[in-house]
Amino acid sequence: MKIVVLGASGGCGRQLVKQAVERGWEVTAVGRSTSSLELPDGVRIVRGELQDADALEAAFEGADTVFSALGLNLSGLSPFSTAEVPDLLSRAAPVIVEAMKRTGVPRLVAISAGGVGDSAALMPWFYKWIVAMTSMRRLYPELEVMESVYASSELDVCCVRPTTLTDGPRTGRAVVATRLVGQADISRADLASWMLDAAEGGRFEHFGPLLTERGAG
Ligand SMILES: NC(=O)c1ccc[n+]([C@@H]2O[C@H](COP(=O)([O-])OP(=O)(O)OC[C@H]3O[C@@H](n4cnc5c(N)ncnc54)[C@H](OP(=O)(O)O)[C@@H]3O)[C@@H](O)[C@H]2O)c1
Repeated sequence: MKIVVLGASGGCGRQLVKQAVERGWEVTAVGRSTSSLELPDGVRIVRGELQDADALEAAFEGADTVFSALGLNLSGLSPFSTAEVPDLLSRAAPVIVEAMKRTGVPRLVAISAGGVGDSAALMPWFYKWIVAMTSMRRLYPELEVMESVYASSELDVCCVRPTTLTDGPRTGRAVVATRLVGQADISRADLASWMLDAAEGGRFEHFGPLLTERGAG
């Protein structure tokens, strides 16, 4: 498998790169000029801004699947915190889709969040309350727009919707939840592992699976 990881410097991005290398896959990691990319040997690194279509196309050429672990850099969880680039995900999504089409990459696995799209109905009230009362409320509208761009792209897309992310170990216990009960979370390692497994299979079963390790009802 030949893959590209966007947001390779982040917590989930690093896990995707590390685990893909362990699987023997060929990995291209994309980061902006300031991203800290301390990655395993053999990983090809492409530096470029997300609006730079040429850089994306150079990274995507010949790949089977693009993984996006991009997220908004929020300055904290306080309701007064701001996002470094508030419209990053909605602006990047069409550029990513266009670069994939130009280079003929058919599949995309992108990280969204539990509570986006039709998964909102499955979230407990306190999860929705936390989102509404913190800076996370800035993230959700962005993720909704990002998902709608990917949904209408005609590519084979999976927008994974994880519950709260932790830095716990890989357990192999990630499941697609149809209901959440109590505390729901998933480690970045398990999320990455599930995403890589999904890309190894045939066409994605769900567009927006709600993924968790703990708390599936
Ligand atoms: N935290 C949770 O509990 C939770 C729950 C559900 C879903 N999520 C989603 O999961 C995403 C990934 O989580 P994570 O912990 O891996 O996030 P993270 O560690 O904050 O990583 C975010 C990635 O996005 C990149 N990025 C941010 N702003 C950028 C910009 N302007 N241009 C280019 N790249 C940029 C970062 O690159 P730099 O290193 O260059 O900044 C980094 O690689 C979150 O952002 C969120 O959308 C999170």
